[in-house]
Amino acid sequence: MTKTLLILPGDGIGPEVMAEVRKVIDWFNARGQDFEVSEDLVGGCAYDKHGTPLHDDTMARAQEVDAVLLGAVGGPKYDALDFSVKPERGLLRLRKEMDLYANLRPAQCFDALADFSSLKKDVVAGLDIMIIRELTSGVYFGEPRGIINEGNERVGINTQRYTESEIERVARSGFEMARKRSNKLCSMEKANVMESGVLWREVVQKIGDTAYPDVELSHMYADAGAMQLTRWPKQFDVIVTDNLFGDLLSDLAAMLTGSLGMLPSASLGAPMANGRPKALYEPVHGSAPDIAGQGKANPIACILSFAMALRYSFDMGAEADRLEAAINTVLAQGLRTADLIGEEGRAPVSTSEMGDAIVAALDA
Ligand code: NAI
Ligand code: MG
Repeated sequence: MTKTLLILPGDGIGPEVMAEVRKVIDWFNARGQDFEVSEDLVGGCAYDKHGTPLHDDTMARAQEVDAVLLGAVGGPKYDALDFSVKPERGLLRLRKEMDLYANLRPAQCFDALADFSSLKKDVVAGLDIMIIRELTSGVYFGEPRGIINEGNERVGINTQRYTESEIERVARSGFEMARKRSNKLCSMEKANVMESGVLWREVVQKIGDTAYPDVELSHMYADAGAMQLTRWPKQFDVIVTDNLFGDLLSDLAAMLTGSLGMLPSASLGAPMANGRPKALYEPVHGSAPDIAGQGKANPIACILSFAMALRYSFDMGAEADRLEAAINTVLAQGLRTADLIGEEGRAPVSTSEMGDAIVAALDA
C-alpha cells in the first residue's frame, strides 16, 4: 500500500532539518518502500506567499494524507504580525482541525549521550519512557476565560474542564501504547484538589478495569510525578496526563535526556478509514533563528519524528528500530552537532554531515 506523506518544512531551520529527513525517506524508497511525498508551505513562508500561515488547500491535503511531517514555524520577521496570521496559527489550525488529541513525547536517552545529561549517568542511561499529553482540551481551552474587572482590581480567569469522553479517548491511547511497550501505564492528575482530576482518575480506572485488565495501571498526583521523574525516571514506562500537567512534565522529562535538538513528538487523532490514525509528526524545537541558514542545526529530532511516523502510522516498528540504531551508531562514533558539545570542545559536524552519516549507518 502506498504511504502518503505531506512534508511541511516551515521556517528557519525547519527546511534544513527536513532536507535530512528526505535523505532517509529516499533511502527507504530505494529499498522497496513506497513513500509518496508532497511538500507545501506552513508558517511565515506561507504567510509571505498567501497572506495566511496555512492555505486551505494545504489544510485539505493534511486531512487526506497518512501522515504530516512538520519542521518548525516562526521567526523574528513575523513577530509583529497580527495574532490571527502569526506563523504558529498555522500549526494550531492543523492540530485543531485534525483533532489531534494525543500528544506523544518520548524521553529516550541514547547510550552515547548519557554523560551529556545534567542528571547522574545511572539515572538516565537506558531511559526510554513515553509521555502522552492530552492536547485539545483542559485549562488551555476551557470557558469561561479572560481578564475581568472585579471591584477595584482585575481578575485573570481560566477554567480546567474535561468531559468523560475527552478523558476516555486519551486514556485509551495510553493503554494501547502501554500494550505496545511494557504493559505499564501511570496516570497523573491532582485528584486531591481538583474536580477534573477526580473525574480523570475515575474514568481512567474504569477503562482500565473494563477494556485493559492486562495493563498494570497506577495513579499518581502530578506534583509527586514531577519529583519521581527526576528522582528515578526508569520506574515509569507510559505516562498519560492532561494538557497542562503534560506540558510541564514532558518538558521536564525531555531534558533528562540532553538537547532540544534530539526531541521528537507525534500528535495523533482518531483512526481514518484506512485504520491509520490522523497524525502529525514534528520535532519539539522551534525554528531556531539564531542558527538558521548556518548548517548548524541538529537534524536528529526531525529524523526521530520520522521514526515515530514509521512506528505509529505505518506499523514499521522494525524499520523505526533500525533508524534509531543508526542514530545511536553515529553518536557512538563521536559525531556531534554543535548543540551536543559541552565542555569537551570537539569539532562539530554540520546538519548535512550528520544526515549523511545516519544514512550511511542505515546501510551498515
Ligand atoms: P527554539 O527551539 O527555536 O530555539 C531554542 C534554542 O535551541 C536556540 O538557541 C536554538 O538555536 C536551539 N535549537 C533549537 N533547535 C535546535 C536544533 N535542531 N539544533 C540545534 N540547536 C537547536 O525556540 P525559540 O528560540 O524560543 O523560538 C524561535 C522561534 O521558533 C520563535 O518564532 C518561536 O515562536 C518558534 N517556535 C516554533 C515551534 C514550532 O514550530 N513547533 C516551537 C517553539 C518555538
Ligand atoms: Mg511546552
